[in-house]
Amino acid sequence: MSPSITVRVPAKVNIHLAVHAARPDGFHDLSNVFLAVGLYDEVTASLSDSLRVSCSGPEAQHTPLGCDNLAHRAAARLAAHHDIKPAVHLHLSKHIPVAGGMAGGSADAAGALLACDTLWETSTSSADLLALCAQLGSDVPFSMAGGAALGTGRGDRLAPLEVNGTFRWVLAVADAGLSTPAVYQEFDRLDDGPRTADPAIPRALLDALRGGDAAALADSLRNDLQAAALSLNPMLGATLLAGTEAGALEGLVCGSGPTTAFLAADSASAMSIAGALLKSGTCRTVHVVEGPVAGATVIG
Ligand code: C5P
Repeated sequence: MSPSITVRVPAKVNIHLAVHAARPDGFHDLSNVFLAVGLYDEVTASLSDSLRVSCSGPEAQHTPLGCDNLAHRAAARLAAHHDIKPAVHLHLSKHIPVAGGMAGGSADAAGALLACDTLWETSTSSADLLALCAQLGSDVPFSMAGGAALGTGRGDRLAPLEVNGTFRWVLAVADAGLSTPAVYQEFDRLDDGPRTADPAIPRALLDALRGGDAAALADSLRNDLQAAALSLNPMLGATLLAGTEAGALEGLVCGSGPTTAFLAADSASAMSIAGALLKSGTCRTVHVVEGPVAGATVIG
């Protein structure tokens, strides 16, 4: 057994998030196109007498370390699955914003599952790992899988999508996070009647991904949660305006927010959008990233 295993897991942006009617269990059926982007958390698992979580890095400050931490829950669940003791110390190197709409907690859960499975040599099948991911949260299967995928159901039933080329994004991180349940509640409150529950993804979006065409992708972006996120944090309107005025092809809120994502035509444009966003004073920090990238990966 190795003394420690490190797994790297990406953040995601949602490039098409269609939210359908609320279900009796409180979740909403989604047509959710995920793209994994190159902003990563790292999860290091080391043998220990008991299960504990520690954290460092630029986003460590707001990360809960107890049983509420998704990585903690992931390790406990994998151990229960194999009927073994969850004897592990998980260290999170946090770069994905907490409560930012970028699946940071989900990334840590996927990372913990893969790191513990490797450390404990439990050889969990891919199907069982994905089932455990779905039990932990709607976005966790995608954090494990990475790339680009359509998520249906709660967003946890994945079908991979073909992408040729790479898209460049600027991520603007807001001062304070938003709670995902609160954003879905606000979505329900703002909802003005029955919506057509068309699960189909527009052909133009699929063609833009296949063709690696950023301008066409910009025309196809959709996030049904954006109005709810803006209602809870109206400052995001100023961030969106600053990014589009700086030359972004399009900007949108990432998932339930409040991080905003700006699609850039090329690397030079991404750098200048990032500079303008920082200067605008409408966000805490920015990241220039590319996607799609691979999902959870053992790196050491
Ligand atoms: O699955 P996850 O734990 O990430 O979901 C967090 C919350 O987001 C849920 O409790 C629910 O309020 C909301 N949600 C939803 N529909 C989804 C996914 C999440 O209503 N498809």
